[in-house]
Amino acid sequence: MISETGEFVINIPTEELIWATDYCGNVSGSEEDKFSVANLTPLPAARVKPPVIKECPVNLECKVVQVLYLGSHDCFVGEVVAVQVNEEVLLSDIEGTGDPAFRETIDMEKCRPFVYLPGGGKYWNLKERIARVCYTKKPEAPEH
Ligand SMILES: Cc1cc2nc3c(=O)[nH]c(=O)nc-3n(C[C@H](O)[C@H](O)[C@H](O)COP(=O)(O)O)c2cc1C
Repeated sequence: MISETGEFVINIPTEELIWATDYCGNVSGSEEDKFSVANLTPLPAARVKPPVIKECPVNLECKVVQVLYLGSHDCFVGEVVAVQVNEEVLLSDIEGTGDPAFRETIDMEKCRPFVYLPGGGKYWNLKERIARVCYTKKPEAPEH
């Protein structure tokens, strides 16, 4: 479908959606209505034809810009043309500063994504933040 349309959406699920995610990765949409079985809701995307998934807090709408033929698989490189984020997973401006960064940054403790590590064949959550990016170059920012 990506080859035919040149478009796709990357949906970031939360830990609550682990069953739905694993199920969708093991069954083909050509055999079953995966949205229905996994209790997922397709909604129209803003800039591409494939739908976003309502239950996923983050959806990245993409257009294919390059295809790498790697042998066993084709690797699609996409340009993100629209992003849909549920406001509930954004950082909270609890001090009311009005800093636009709060409107643009995803709070991973609220979003609670997970990853698949092929080595052990397991899904893992991200557990905790261990450092701030570039903290070695900015000693004036002591907090991790
Ligand atoms: C944990 C997991 C990881 C997967 N990783 C990939 C992958 O990296 N590339 C791929 O082509 N398929 C991968 N698959 C298989 C696809 O998810 C599967 O072929 C696809 O969901 C079939 O659905 P469709 O026919 O509706 O596209 C993975 C499946 C699982 C369960």
